[in-house]
Amino acid sequence: MGYETITVTQWSPNVGAEIGNIDLTKPLNATQVKEVRDAITLHGVLFFRNQKIDFADHERFVRYFGQPHEHIGGDGTASTRIPGHPGIRKQYFDAKSKRVAGEDWHSDQSYGDIPPTYSILYQEQIPPNGGGDTMFLSASKAYEELSDGMKAYLKGKTATHMGGKSFVNNPEDRPEVVHPVVTRHPESGRNVLFVNPSFTSHINGVPPEESKRVLQYIYEHMARPHWCMRFRWNNHSIAMWDNRAVQHMAIWDYWPNVRSGYRMFLEGSAPPMAG
Ligand code: SIN
Repeated sequence: MGYETITVTQWSPNVGAEIGNIDLTKPLNATQVKEVRDAITLHGVLFFRNQKIDFADHERFVRYFGQPHEHIGGDGTASTRIPGHPGIRKQYFDAKSKRVAGEDWHSDQSYGDIPPTYSILYQEQIPPNGGGDTMFLSASKAYEELSDGMKAYLKGKTATHMGGKSFVNNPEDRPEVVHPVVTRHPESGRNVLFVNPSFTSHINGVPPEESKRVLQYIYEHMARPHWCMRFRWNNHSIAMWDNRAVQHMAIWDYWPNVRSGYRMFLEGSAPPMAG
């Protein structure tokens, strides 16, 4: 694909690309926005470096693609609200943290009726000696590499996703929803494995032991390094991922150091469609 305004450098054959020649502290024109959208559809997750954005820049960037999506589920230890900015959550971890956000594979808020489309995570402070990387996997490439027999088995199946599976500290606030196990990305047209170990409780309509073993197989298959990548952050980097195409996992190897940033979601427009 040719780009007129931005540069796009792939991180791996199947997932991820770094975007250059763009300044997210300034307004973007329509061509820049279209090229960012084209790039994320192709690569699933994009990285931007040296972008010292403030809340207004973060919100403006999200609004080029639609409306901000407010986090479903109450305040937890993993992220907190910012007064006056309902779409922004602070993610701050230090020596006192008992957990961090997103330590197992997931797509964000898959337990919502309409999960957020994109997540845009800005890191202000990264641990001084490395650490705090984020892993990404292509859930479409993982689907495509399943056998025909497994694809036929999964076709038409649904799975239950539960917020309470991870957010155990908010018992009153545990959304639960059913989505297809295989979804179709509305822009790329690719099929995607839409189950994850953080929020999917079971495949519906099969015995519990079968659900457990099939999910275990899928999770091991999705985590194969062939369609994964690991992003190393700097201060003022941004990762923007498409929850309809990739899953991600945060690595908490930096305790007791500080890692601190801000995350926004882009509101989805429709429930995930069956692939
Ligand atoms: C998340 O899953 O919300 C956080 C990802 C990260 O901190 O790298």
